[in-house]
Amino acid sequence: MIKFADVALMTHATFGMLCIIASVWVFVDTLNASRGNVVRIKLMSRAVAGFMWLAFLVGGYWYVTYYYADKALILKGPWPFAHHLVMETKEHLVIMLLLLTTFLPIAASGNLVANKSARNVVLWVVGLIILTGMLMEGSGAIIGMGVKLAVLPK
Ligand code: HEM
Repeated sequence: MIKFADVALMTHATFGMLCIIASVWVFVDTLNASRGNVVRIKLMSRAVAGFMWLAFLVGGYWYVTYYYADKALILKGPWPFAHHLVMETKEHLVIMLLLLTTFLPIAASGNLVANKSARNVVLWVVGLIILTGMLMEGSGAIIGMGVKLAVLPK
């Protein structure tokens, strides 16, 4: 039987991945900023922020409602660092990623075609979002493995 908790966990990771994919789109479009794609850059920047807030709301709900059970398993299992180090780090990366993704549409509201430094700000912000997002993905996989190894027969 498919439970809401399981769908919510997978949904947050999906929104996280959509945030990363939209960020790569903004990065490549900004490298080639022109009158033809500047509206698209602004729209995709908003999509980056939207997907991250959705990942935060769904992932945050899952974290406060269901994570306690997985945490107990991880701490008793062979990979307690998956909680002590990785989940603790992920909790802090989330706040940085929320700030960066919320700032991106503001940074992208400048004249990206004529203003090189405005383009550079967008490239740095979206570059940091892509790197931090991949850290979120990787840390999620390590936490999931920590749970799996705790329940698998030795
Ligand atoms: C870019 C954003 C994010 C990405 C790409 C991402 C990705 C993932 C992935 C792939 C997993 C493993 C899922 C599994 O084991 O099936 C995971 C687990 C997890 N994520 Fe995220 N995540 C993101 C944001 C967040 C946010 C914002 C929160 C909470 C506020 C969060 C909380 C969690 C928790 C608690 C788990 C552990 C699930 C477990 O116990 O197995 N994640 N994440």
